[in-house]
Amino acid sequence: MVGSEFLLDVRELSVRFRLGRGRPEVHAVTDVSFSLAPGELLGLVGESGCGKSVLAAALLGLLPANARLCGEAVLNAPGDEPVELLGAPESVLSQRVRGRLVGLVPQSAAAHLTPVRTAGAQLVEAVRVLRPAERDPAAVAEALAERVGLNPVFLKRYPHELSGGTAQRVAVALALAGDPPVVLADEPTAGLDRPLVERTVDLLADLAREGRAVLLITHDLAAASRVATDLAVMYASRLVERGPAAKLFDTPWHPYTEGLLGALPTGGFRAIPGHPPELTALPEGCAFRPRCPVAEDCGGDPALVRHGDRYVACRQPC
Ligand SMILES: Nc1ncnc2c1ncn2[C@@H]1O[C@H](COP(=O)(O)OP(=O)(O)O)[C@@H](O)[C@H]1O
Ligand code: SF4
Ligand SMILES: [Mg+2]
Repeated sequence: MVGSEFLLDVRELSVRFRLGRGRPEVHAVTDVSFSLAPGELLGLVGESGCGKSVLAAALLGLLPANARLCGEAVLNAPGDEPVELLGAPESVLSQRVRGRLVGLVPQSAAAHLTPVRTAGAQLVEAVRVLRPAERDPAAVAEALAERVGLNPVFLKRYPHELSGGTAQRVAVALALAGDPPVVLADEPTAGLDRPLVERTVDLLADLAREGRAVLLITHDLAAASRVATDLAVMYASRLVERGPAAKLFDTPWHPYTEGLLGALPTGGFRAIPGHPPELTALPEGCAFRPRCPVAEDCGGDPALVRHGDRYVACRQPC
């Protein structure tokens, strides 16, 4: 059983997608383990297509029927029975988990807003459903809008009348409508300019400081470096490095983490040569090997190995 100091404890989560007879499965998530404690902001970073969104969707039961899951993901609901998310019936996920215990800021948030209702109407409705004892949902919706830095004038607008940044703020407010102790934010800064990126991630950091556990999924390592307390680096469906963010940014051990940092402006814009492998045809051993500048005779084991408070999947940490 998992330790209750964690709000969320994910153990060896794997997701495979069946593509049909005769076609290989997509290995979207492989043996991913991590936990989230109150006050923690875990940045989950990695190139596009490595499995970040599938991981979040798996935790909330939002994957399509061709997905096959294994592993364990326990949500330790404060003052309530723990929920095993992967095996939970849809009724538990929809009535207890989504919105109430776990708020999701979905990827491409604007596309998830209902086009025929104003932002304000959607927010009030979410509060009404998720906080049924609340006497004044409109006042709560206004407070939420203020909380996320949303000018009240935008509450009267329809989604198509909102800029990308404003729609993202509405999505964050919606994710907070049920006052959840865990927030999963999937690329909440995509398409935003730098000042808005910083305001958005600073808001997530505030949520963590209030005692929530926050998972920030992003391919924007600079945004993660600003606020993450912990960092998990994903490559080709697996975590390859995990640990305190300051240590990973200061001395990355995995050559892929080092490569991601080298691609930042502060690292000299040195892109990692090559491309990630197809998730239908992953190689044996370390999947980063074809792109690794220090591969040689390392032997390449893909399993994460613990070194104190850090974990790395590389035989020769750099
Ligand atoms: N329903 C699905 N059926 C088959 N493959 C899928 C499905 N959803 C996602 N995938 C694949 O899973 C992999 C991981 O996708 P995703 O989690 O969206 O990546 P990321 O969020 O890291 O960019 C991709 O190769 C994607 O094509
Ligand atoms: S295990 Fe080997 S190939 Fe893989 S990242 Fe480490 S050094 Fe490179
Ligand atoms: Mg994604």
